[in-house]
Amino acid sequence: MSEPLAIPAATADVRAQFAADVRYYLSLVPRQLPSKYLYDPLGSALFEAITRLPWYPLQRAEARLLEAHARAIFGAAGPVDTLVELGPGSGEKLLTLMMAGGRASVPFDVRLIDISPVALSRATQTLQAHSPASVTRYEGTYEAGLERFAAERDRAGRALVMFLGSNLGNFDPPGAEAFLRSVNAAIGCSSVLLLGTDLVKPARDLLLAYDDPLGVTAAFNRNLLVRINRDLQADFEVAAFAHRVVWNRDLLRIEMHLVSRRSQRVRIRGAQFELALQQGESIWTESSYKYQPEDVHTVLARAGFRVLSQWIDETDLFALTLAQPEG
Ligand code: AVJ
Repeated sequence: MSEPLAIPAATADVRAQFAADVRYYLSLVPRQLPSKYLYDPLGSALFEAITRLPWYPLQRAEARLLEAHARAIFGAAGPVDTLVELGPGSGEKLLTLMMAGGRASVPFDVRLIDISPVALSRATQTLQAHSPASVTRYEGTYEAGLERFAAERDRAGRALVMFLGSNLGNFDPPGAEAFLRSVNAAIGCSSVLLLGTDLVKPARDLLLAYDDPLGVTAAFNRNLLVRINRDLQADFEVAAFAHRVVWNRDLLRIEMHLVSRRSQRVRIRGAQFELALQQGESIWTESSYKYQPEDVHTVLARAGFRVLSQWIDETDLFALTLAQPEG
């Protein structure tokens, strides 16, 4: 009977952080919201739908690379006991690597770190349906999950740590370097990192990937307002915001915005905040940085990694890079 009490307590914590972040980031000019909040249950489902869109090739390109090079990846990684994935989503990427690498029947110790409990359940189901892996879930931010993993590292042995799907793209360059540095420290010198990054490609392809004709990405973006309305008792009029995508060619990033169609005031009761927006003013909800293959080497080197190997999908311009912390 005491168990259910622990769940609302954790939720209250997450909600307080969400409220504080919403108040802080919406007070900034330009207005912003951290992209990690896009992944509530509906947001996670919409993102999964995005990965199946013909205009969003990232996931398929990465899956092709994992499929084609899984044995080479395991070969270069050396013997591993533990598989760790930051942001496993549906678990399909990890399963593809295990199957194509001829290791689906190895009883790996698998650790999954994700902010979305829905993603963690889906990934666990996917893996346990097809392999004897024992799965440990760390629900929370990458930072919190890495800290927990680091604390249990002695029992984990050598790990192959995956950070796929171009999730690194959500960090700006200094943030990416700092984050990779913290991954480096958390995983230890005997582990390896497999990093998936989307590469710079023609602007029209990038714009279609983030502003698809079915409007799924627009729904994914606007759902952030739906979430704030529900979780923080706000009164955003969702239809009064347009989905806008910008390719910033100087900074090599796609920006996703919600543009206010008219001047309006929004009450966010749960954050004790009132937001006034001009017509055309935007809330910046995500950045997706794109890399040149050599930029991946550079950021990894700055974070203390040595690149072991890199594989590139030339059709959709996506890279998988295997690296090891510099001893
Ligand atoms: C999951 C962060 C890699 O940036 O491409 C997809 C999220 N945003 N469409 C990306 C996303 C809009 C995605 N990442």
